[in-house]
Amino acid sequence: EQHKSWDSRPLVRYERIWLPVMLFRPILTSQKHFKAEGTDIILTTMPKSGTTWLKALTFSIANRNVFSIHQSPLLSYNPHTLVPFLEYTIYRDQDNPELENIPRPRIFSTHMPFKILPDSIRESECRIIYICRNPLDQFVSHYHFMLQNKIEKDAIPLELDEVFDMFCQGIQPFGPFWDHMLGYWNAHLKNPQKVLFLKYEDLKQDISSHIKKIAEFIGFPFSAEEENQGMIEQISRLCSFENLKNLEVNKSGYFIGSIKNSSFFRKGEVGDWVNHLTPAMAERVKNLTETKFQGSGLVFKM
Ligand code: A3P
Repeated sequence: EQHKSWDSRPLVRYERIWLPVMLFRPILTSQKHFKAEGTDIILTTMPKSGTTWLKALTFSIANRNVFSIHQSPLLSYNPHTLVPFLEYTIYRDQDNPELENIPRPRIFSTHMPFKILPDSIRESECRIIYICRNPLDQFVSHYHFMLQNKIEKDAIPLELDEVFDMFCQGIQPFGPFWDHMLGYWNAHLKNPQKVLFLKYEDLKQDISSHIKKIAEFIGFPFSAEEENQGMIEQISRLCSFENLKNLEVNKSGYFIGSIKNSSFFRKGEVGDWVNHLTPAMAERVKNLTETKFQGSGLVFKM
């Protein structure tokens, strides 16, 4: 089953998930070939939910004894270069990419829902960190990303109303969003040592405690000495929206194809949806989300 995508390219339905057709082969290849190791850290998200931020944070936390903050690779490389996606980068053109020589812990990312992750990720001791975002902001962020990155020159972007309607039907890259969130939420409830479940809004509200939480989760807790030296604040500042957005590498440069690094840094706020969606649209998403999440224990402040 196929459906036109937001940028006029098709989405294909696989295991009840809408996947961008260009990623279908890389996803199947990574399912077949990726061998997770016990020390790996896998960052998983819906697009536009805080992936870039989580990559910068996790990379900085895990490598804080390798690079000083002032010489962080984040100053010269986009977070997506330092923490590559399985489907957009690593398995994009190759069946057996060289992953042995990457320093440990290796950090990878993917937008794949929990149920289609390569088996080795679910079965090994590796850790999964999931970040999600309230669906209204995620939708608005994705819509703008799509407008900025018309991948084919003649691709005609769909109108906001039309895209919004698809979104409410669950038709969006890696959607439906509520299935994506529930998949990781249930995995987290089953094994909290395996899956850390984060929300973008919570990180915005209190970044320090989340930096500590991530560090503990991946087995690199901060020592009292590091805390006294202000290490947590330094990482928080390095990875902040303002800092990353204004770095030369993120102002220029490309992620893949014609997708600009700068398009990963738009506003970085909570609640920007009010500037783009009507109260009726918001109500529709709130009701849908409440129904879908009923009984799960998962809630969003919207
Ligand atoms: P907005 O479009 O609402 O500004 P992803 O990284 O998953 O693609 O998500 C992109 C969203 O995260 C964008 O949201 C972007 O501005 C925001 N973002 C990127 N880096 C961030 C950071 N360091 N801190 C907070 N938000 C950030």
